Amino acid sequence: MSHEPHPLDDPAADPFEIAAQAAADIARLTGVERHDIALTLGSGWGQAADLIGETIATLDATEVTGFSRPALEGHGGTLRSILTARGSHVLVIGARTHFYEGHGTRRVVHSVRTAAATGARTMVLTNGAGGIRQTWKPGQPVLISDHINLTGASPLEGATFVDLTDLYSTRLRDVARRVDASLDEGVYCQFRGPQYETPAEVQMAKIIGGHIVGMSTALEAIAARQAGMEILGMSLITNMAAGIQATPLSHAEVIEAGTAAAPRISALLAEIVGQL
Ligand code: HPA
Repeated sequence: MSHEPHPLDDPAADPFEIAAQAAADIARLTGVERHDIALTLGSGWGQAADLIGETIATLDATEVTGFSRPALEGHGGTLRSILTARGSHVLVIGARTHFYEGHGTRRVVHSVRTAAATGARTMVLTNGAGGIRQTWKPGQPVLISDHINLTGASPLEGATFVDLTDLYSTRLRDVARRVDASLDEGVYCQFRGPQYETPAEVQMAKIIGGHIVGMSTALEAIAARQAGMEILGMSLITNMAAGIQATPLSHAEVIEAGTAAAPRISALLAEIVGQL
């Protein structure tokens, strides 16, 4: 397989300039000059795109500057431009680069920076994650109220002192709860992965104030805040975290919980996005 150099791997490159190029690609390929809202779809949330509104265009992510080639041929992500009933343009990002892939934080947050460069002021980040709270059940969606970044990494470069107070907007969580008053919330702990946590790591996360364990959203939220976006974070609890459930974790179980919950949580997410 041939590998062209990736523009974000050049240390001299400006990641914001590359995001601006990506946004220009999206405007050209979709015909939509500006987007208002961006939405990253994690495990289990994929069907939401069909319910949000009218699809204006669907792009293969590899058509857009800086988006990574899929690790497996035929498993490339897509970017979709959707028009809601209220007239908002939503950029749906179905192409996530995880930190555990080892390509560095610039590539991890490129989709978020691109979303900001398309004009989006609201960033909705969704994921599939493990639950620490005993009362939560697999298949349950929860709001992210804050995070603990356990990756040891940051998408910020240099002396960039960004405030993270109210990172997961109280206002947007209230909007979500107006759609579904039963939505619980919790603190998301991002581990590097790709291995799932040990039960001891889950206990550590619990003791330091975590309720949700995952491998994606915290680094993206930091980049979204740097870009000045308002953030809504939601996790689908696909499994009880290691040691909270008695049985071993499996990727198949995570996918299965996502598939089972998909119709319900996708409808919920589409309704919330419609209110943003
Ligand atoms: N831990 C980390 N990431 C996950 C989990 C988990 O238990 N479930 C789904 N993604």
